Amino acid sequence: MNAYDSARMAEILAPLGYAPVDRPDDADMIILNTCHIREKAAEKVYSDLGRLRRLKAGRAAAGKATTIAVGGCVAQAEGAEIMARAPGVDIVFGPQTYHRLPEMLARASREGGGVLDTDFPVESKFDHLPGARAVPGASAFLAVQEGCDKFCAFCVVPYTRGAEQSRPVAAVVAEAEALVVGGEREITLLGQNVNAYHGDGDDGGDPWSLARLLRRLARIEGLARLRYTTSHPLDMSDDLIAAHGDLEALMPFLHLPVQSGSDRVLAAMNRRHRADDYRRIVERLRASRPDLALGSDFIVGFPGESDADFAATLALVEEIGFAQAYSFKYSARPGTPAAALPGQVPEPLKAERLRALQDLLARQQARFNRACVGRDLAVLLDRPGRHPGQLVGRSPYMQAVHADLGGHALGRIVSLRIVACHANSLAGAVTTGDLAALAGAEA
Ligand code: 5AD
Ligand code: SF4
Repeated sequence: MNAYDSARMAEILAPLGYAPVDRPDDADMIILNTCHIREKAAEKVYSDLGRLRRLKAGRAAAGKATTIAVGGCVAQAEGAEIMARAPGVDIVFGPQTYHRLPEMLARASREGGGVLDTDFPVESKFDHLPGARAVPGASAFLAVQEGCDKFCAFCVVPYTRGAEQSRPVAAVVAEAEALVVGGEREITLLGQNVNAYHGDGDDGGDPWSLARLLRRLARIEGLARLRYTTSHPLDMSDDLIAAHGDLEALMPFLHLPVQSGSDRVLAAMNRRHRADDYRRIVERLRASRPDLALGSDFIVGFPGESDADFAATLALVEEIGFAQAYSFKYSARPGTPAAALPGQVPEPLKAERLRALQDLLARQQARFNRACVGRDLAVLLDRPGRHPGQLVGRSPYMQAVHADLGGHALGRIVSLRIVACHANSLAGAVTTGDLAALAGAEA
């Protein structure tokens, strides 16, 4: 979501003459788009700001002004503190107000900085964003939902991003169509709790579910691939599970965070489902789409987590088999209920559990990738690789695949034979052996 928001900020600022540069030293304005989800991410902001203050002073000595802005969820949560602790900062704004950046810039230059805007405005930023994307590519993000009402006991999102809100269907469809006209082949629908989507249709009827939205988007000609992230198990409705079986464009990889395999911990986390509910959902998803690969998020060392609770997480992972997953040490976040719970787990034990879980997840990922060697996978080649002529893209299962294609076929979906697998990527090769034909062929 932050990557999406950053791109939109760049678009809003483009009419004012701003364009991205490669090095902060060359920038007239620097925006830190921050994340508050774990302590480490939030701390990084202050160390980055120290560095940027020195950079600003150096540029000032050379007669160049620099505007420094802090956006995103750390700004939302700690706006006043940032203003107080980081004197070089001119503008602080939350995730819901970045459409006002042009006004904030004007105010900052008039008033010499000190602009703080962490409102949750009634107007939606989405109604104030430019329609067309400045940076066309083959794969785009599209925010359809924002905020969250789930209030998991560890999570800051409901406080920093605010209440759950869905964009109207017509706005989403129009943006998707514009993206496809601009050359995108794949769209990933974004939301903190995207499968809780309930956007207004234009027929005055009930709000649309995510499944209904996906069915509508799948009809857009030229849109080859759809994905959505991130989801809560409770909102994995029957029609969404069915959509995984029906919609060819809906890619067979689903990121479905479970956080823990222990019912006791899940209850303490206020996740509102048991480990078995997750197992049943995965079973039904796999019945609907047999080749579905799964991703997840895990937290180890949640307050009160015992050895037995952690063992239940490992058991769940063993049983399900994940293609790719993220795992984190629990990080107490100010203002969240879990931060005040007794039984905080000591750091070394968290680290030990994280290592054990990550070992298991890495073995599962390697096994999944190895099983792809020798298969032909449809790869959307969306960026140049590190070596000349190399392109990198995504398989249907979200694996990064690189191939030597003489630079041909960027932005296209090409069937590649998987010839090798590495820790985090696959190597592919064209099976026809004819790069020139590939260069001329339709994707
Ligand atoms: N500590 C550790 N991990 C967290 N996450 C969210 N809040 C915390 C926290 N306080 C993780 C969850 C979530 C992912 C985006 O970040 O696993 O799914
Ligand atoms: Fe945070 Fe996700 Fe829980 Fe919402 S559903 S509170 S975003 S972890």
